[in-house]
Amino acid sequence: MKHIIGVAVLILVASLVFPACRKAAEEDNQAEESTQDPMQNKGIGPVTALELTDIDPALAQKGAQIFEIKCSSCHKMDERHVGPALGEVTTRRSPEWIMNMILNPEEMINKDPIAEELYATYMTPMANQNLSQDEARAVLEYLRKQAKK
Ligand code: HEC
Repeated sequence: MKHIIGVAVLILVASLVFPACRKAAEEDNQAEESTQDPMQNKGIGPVTALELTDIDPALAQKGAQIFEIKCSSCHKMDERHVGPALGEVTTRRSPEWIMNMILNPEEMINKDPIAEELYATYMTPMANQNLSQDEARAVLEYLRKQAKK
């Protein structure tokens, strides 16, 4: 008799705990998926939300000039240089992530999973070029224009 009660209690406990575990595991999976989609990752830094409209050619032109001076020593558009090719970067990273990578690279390569992985691949740390947020926004516009080509 004791035995049967023991087994019954066990089954009861198992049937309560098991679905709870499954649910937790499912939620875990969902959390993982959202960090795995790079376009959902906004990175770490001053830019948390960005509304994009049609490409502004004047802003892109300003960005091109800044890029030439501050970025082209390490980045090309269509091939790997010191850092990754950036011609298509707006198709693989969110705009916020790109801005944070420009404005806050030290923290990004230490804490952001994508930036950490890039650093492991390229071995050189992405340099902080001390751009203002407006300058970084102009560079982003230039990169958006590149991706449209
Ligand atoms: C000293 C070289 C250097 C300079 C200067 C530099 N970067 Fe980088 N950048 C890198 C490296 C190397 C990486 C790869 C990540 C790492 O190793 O830290 C990178 C990564 C990036 C990424 C992420 C690329 C991807 O595939 O996701 C972006 C965006 C970027 N840089 C933009 C810029 C911009 C814009 C400038 C100019 C304001 C700039 N970088 C200046 C070296 C540089």
